[in-house]
Amino acid sequence: MDIKSVKAQIDSDIDKINSLEALEAFSVKYLGRKGVIAELTSQIPSLAAEQRPDAGRDINSLKNQLKDLIDSHRAILSRQASFQKPRSVDITLPGTIQDIGNKHPLTQVMDEICGIFVSLGFKLFEGPEIETEYNNFQALNIPLNHPSCDPFDTFYLDTGFAAKDTDNTEKKQQKPKANQRLLLRSHTSPGQIRVMKKYKPPVAAIVPGKVYRPDATDASHSFMFHQVEGFLVDKDVKFSDLKGVLEEFSKIMFGADTKMRFRPHFFPFTEPSAEVDISCIICGGEGKSLAKTCSVCKGKGWLEILGCGMIHPNVFKAVGYSDGKFTGFAFGMGVERITMLKYGIDDIRIFFENDLRFLKQF
Ligand code: DAH
Repeated sequence: MDIKSVKAQIDSDIDKINSLEALEAFSVKYLGRKGVIAELTSQIPSLAAEQRPDAGRDINSLKNQLKDLIDSHRAILSRQASFQKPRSVDITLPGTIQDIGNKHPLTQVMDEICGIFVSLGFKLFEGPEIETEYNNFQALNIPLNHPSCDPFDTFYLDTGFAAKDTDNTEKKQQKPKANQRLLLRSHTSPGQIRVMKKYKPPVAAIVPGKVYRPDATDASHSFMFHQVEGFLVDKDVKFSDLKGVLEEFSKIMFGADTKMRFRPHFFPFTEPSAEVDISCIICGGEGKSLAKTCSVCKGKGWLEILGCGMIHPNVFKAVGYSDGKFTGFAFGMGVERITMLKYGIDDIRIFFENDLRFLKQF
């Protein structure tokens, strides 16, 4: 018996194997205690001394090849066997119920917010999440030495070149000028700049989307969250128009009995500016619920929902609107915040954990 003829025999035997039983018999025939490999090994002492090492090595390698061959055939045959097994069908068992997916709660609330403003005549726009420093800050009357421009408060991109230069490889090496750097937008307000640069008044637009800030994540902060920006520009737009639109929004969003108040505030891109509170949706503004201090408004009776104001003349200047001809209002709100208030959720992190026990409740 020599190795060559054994190899030929293996090739012809393996081709005929079509069951796990046949494979086991094949394994015994070659690898068994009295099998072909054992017999080949027992012939080694009768060989000439100089042939023995080579013969030993060849037989060993053949043995390993055989083992691999048997393993791979066993895997294939087992898989086939499991497919072929006739399955008993119990037609009285209930069918498999497939879960129907739904929109994420934040998407639902964002759609709801946008739907209300669209029904009031606002048009929907989307801007890019990677913005220029100019659109995110300067055009909005935020000077570059404002604290929000600090890298601790805004994610800057380390691209080394500005948006327009992407096709110019030489410029890649240059340091971008301040205000041309790229960043992850820290609010949706640059949506105002993009829309106003493209369209002349009258314009009324909302811009929903993701925004980014390097906040440490805790129960009320996330490095990524969602906002909806809105604004309207025309001749003779007044602060009372802003109040009317926001009052309509809050009554549809939070219920017809909702009260609203404006608190003076400062934003660089609006003048005058205000923050808007609504009466607490849990205690109705009483500050107490079931004789205890209301846990949602912490006893204040009011909940802050957005920032707003009359668009600053410097913003109009930045987008090229004629001086003094138009007035307008703008507002911006956080979608997570509104969703948390609406559903009594006290930890922002739960939105991003993908826990179906939470997501299925919406
Ligand atoms: N951009 C502001 C923020 O992220 C929100 C905001 C405030 C938007 C006032 C506005 C506005 O349009 O008028 O905090």
